[in-house]
Amino acid sequence: MIQLIRGFKDNLPGESELWQGVEETARALFRDFGFQEIRVPIMEKTELFARGIGEATDIVEKEMYTFTDRGGEMLTLRPEATASVARAYIQHKLYAGDPVRRLFTIGPMFRRERPQKGRYRQFHQINCEAFGIAGPCIDAQLIFLLTRLMDRLRVADIAVHINSLGCPECRPAYREKLLAYMAGRMDHLCDDCRRRSDVNPLRALDCKSGHCQKAMADAPEQIDFLCKACADHFAAVRASIADLGVSYTVDKRLVRGLDYYSRTTFEILTGAMGGRIAVAGGGRYDGLIKLLGGPDTPGIGFAIGEERLVEICGRAAEEFSARPHLYIAALGEDCFRQAFSWLCRLNEAGIRVETDMSGRSLKSQMKRAGRLNAPHVLIFGENERTEGRAILRDMTTKTQESLPLDGLVPELIRRMSDTG
Ligand code: HAM
Repeated sequence: MIQLIRGFKDNLPGESELWQGVEETARALFRDFGFQEIRVPIMEKTELFARGIGEATDIVEKEMYTFTDRGGEMLTLRPEATASVARAYIQHKLYAGDPVRRLFTIGPMFRRERPQKGRYRQFHQINCEAFGIAGPCIDAQLIFLLTRLMDRLRVADIAVHINSLGCPECRPAYREKLLAYMAGRMDHLCDDCRRRSDVNPLRALDCKSGHCQKAMADAPEQIDFLCKACADHFAAVRASIADLGVSYTVDKRLVRGLDYYSRTTFEILTGAMGGRIAVAGGGRYDGLIKLLGGPDTPGIGFAIGEERLVEICGRAAEEFSARPHLYIAALGEDCFRQAFSWLCRLNEAGIRVETDMSGRSLKSQMKRAGRLNAPHVLIFGENERTEGRAILRDMTTKTQESLPLDGLVPELIRRMSDTG
């Protein structure tokens, strides 16, 4: 038997209701916060990610699914969505007229990482991006939005971590300090960090190797070397999220694994999956739109790991799953044929109806209706057919009434619509 690819995952019925519920909750919240949906392709030219995310990142160096297509073009399955959304913003001039755009997208991403709990090679992100707003309020609003979503999904045990990574004004001086610190410790760093130190020494702060973490333990941190504009911005973000009642920790080591960030970065960490794990991450990327060939426009956004969010969601799939409004227990071929046309007309009117299509006994059909938690059962056998009536049983009160077949469908629609 052919099995699915390692690090990939099927979402089966029973789970998918929870996924839908999580997405519907997110969509409703995003709409209220003024976000519009954008759908971008899952494949882009490799160059977009190499330039956008940064050549000297783990994602670009090691994790991308890249291939040459039959026309000789280098293509990559997207490892994240921000670069694609930024490309679309530029390509379709979504900045024309008003540069402010709030966009969200939900879909699969691909990274060839080592699979483990909560880490897949195809995973899904719920992603928000806000373009054209330089002020600190949007930073606070996005962090607030994330915590509201966690709240609505009854996610417990989360911590908000924030940091500032400075800007092109203050980054170079900090970089020198970091390089000077690393110069005396090169022998203790892993090959990757040594090799990348020229291009991007910041990556060493984020390295998973125990040796590097030890060697970098006392490294200088960007937040202590911010220029005045960055320090003011960060102070305003902190004040604003505190005003909004969000508790947070300043995490000086929160450098994030992608190169496009400037100023505010943030993560939502959870302890609910064993160990501290990021359920969402994001930050400001004021230079990205320009870097990708667009106008000089600020941007900020976040992505939530949907597999992780679903796992720690405090709401159950049943809360989101749609139980049938009605079960039709039709007995015998003639009754079934007649009931089947009612069923299709009820479905069309938005009434969820279950039935049995294999001619089982009334007893076993009633059992199934109970298992499916249907609040009503319509019983229709030969006796009822001869009398021109059908029996409607209320499964909660266990009471029954007899309804005339004449006008039955509109009557059922009226009653079932009331039950929601
Ligand atoms: P990221 O931190 O690479 O950021 O990913 C965001 C979230 O996606 C992570 O916090 C995690 O929950 C989830 N995630 C990442 N890799 C995996 C994986 N292999 N398996 C399961 N879940 C995973 C970004 O991707 C940025 N584009 C976020 C952003 C948007 N920044 C600004 N705008």
